[in-house]
Amino acid sequence: MDLAYMATMPVEEFKQRREQLFTKMPDNSLCILFSEVEQRRNNDCNFPFRQDSYFWYLTGFNEPNSALVLLKKAQQCQTIIFVRPSDPLKETWNGRRLGVHNAPAALQVNLAFSIEQFAQHFSPLLTDIEKIYHESNLHTWGEQLLQQSKFDFTQAESWRDWLDEMRLFKSNNEIALMQQAGQISALAHIRAMQQTRPNRMEYEIESEMLHEFNRFGARYPAYNSIVAGGENACILHYSENDMPLKDGDLVLIDAGCEFAMYAGDITRTFPVNGKFSPAQKEIYDIVLQAQKRAIELLVPSNSIQQVNDEVVRIKVEGLVKLGILHGDVNELIKNNAHRQFYMHGLGHWLGLDVHDVGSYSKAHANGDRNSRNRDRPLEVGMVLTVEPGLYISEKSNVPERYKGIGVRIEDNLLITEYGNKNLTSAAPKEIEDIERLMAAANKH
Ligand code: GLY
Ligand code: MN
Ligand code: MN
Repeated sequence: MDLAYMATMPVEEFKQRREQLFTKMPDNSLCILFSEVEQRRNNDCNFPFRQDSYFWYLTGFNEPNSALVLLKKAQQCQTIIFVRPSDPLKETWNGRRLGVHNAPAALQVNLAFSIEQFAQHFSPLLTDIEKIYHESNLHTWGEQLLQQSKFDFTQAESWRDWLDEMRLFKSNNEIALMQQAGQISALAHIRAMQQTRPNRMEYEIESEMLHEFNRFGARYPAYNSIVAGGENACILHYSENDMPLKDGDLVLIDAGCEFAMYAGDITRTFPVNGKFSPAQKEIYDIVLQAQKRAIELLVPSNSIQQVNDEVVRIKVEGLVKLGILHGDVNELIKNNAHRQFYMHGLGHWLGLDVHDVGSYSKAHANGDRNSRNRDRPLEVGMVLTVEPGLYISEKSNVPERYKGIGVRIEDNLLITEYGNKNLTSAAPKEIEDIERLMAAANKH
């Protein structure tokens, strides 16, 4: 597969999504969405710009300070975009702008205005509008703009549930991009395994992965990479990545690229010196068996919760066999004895955001927004991660040989008619495959 190109989503698809949203809107209503703005890092330097995922989903437009309005009046649908105006001086200093003139054709929208004249052009659109859809918790700069209009936006309903549900089901074009994100992320994990040696720093391995992302057209990681040697693996969101990797330790790497706005999210755990110790193998094998069983079970109509129950059982049985937990398996599960070693969920939706949007519970779909259940049956077109782990901290009361071992194995699954497709299977996870790959790399 030739990965070395920048994929883009056809502009028609963004238009189709807007048309789908229009079908949900009642007559005489309006939806408004705001883009992200530049985020300052320090003094006059910004973080790399990343578009708001909802705004991107409906526009494919990658500039800050923009607003999208969907207007449905007397059964007529109109899309209007507010963008930064062309400005030769600012563009010389800070980069090109699409501009008002080019926006309608480039983005296939009906009308474009300058964001600098927002109030002037937005207020007339509100005439005869009976209902506004707006999400007020996302962008303070947008709230400030709306305050200048005469409509009371505190009464607005959110469009969020509509878009979350649309985003949960991936189109063929999205799946193609997510396959690329998964494949590039997997190649980066292979490179990490090849490059890891005792005494290299965690951040050196991180840099090897970023290099691999970049050279395949994924300019940024989808989230802060975790390269956690030894007991650092037991800190779930460890991101300092500034310690030396030690001979005899495992290293847990949770890193994925963002390719054409879509996230990959892979974790692999492997020995720094290329050979698993017996104790490491024992813990690793429990997690691997649990993960492989979960992959078998994450198929249409099963829920994440059901599958996690099975994962918990496999882990508790494994931990009892190793003498890490003691007692009756059912009792231990009932008392959540595993929570000290497995304290996160089995997985999450994946897409434009690494923790992607979409409801997890049946109750949520029926209007109960507070439900924490993950009992929603899986359906074709959903993409999710499967990431069981075991984290045995130095402080835990377990046999000495297991202390400080943290293992997680994470893949990305597309739910299909026939079960699922693993988008990240190119990253090895069988003990023999990892050891063989690392041994071959160490010969050079
Ligand atoms: N990398 C974040 C996660 O695995 O959820
Ligand atoms: Mn992850
Ligand atoms: Mn994840």
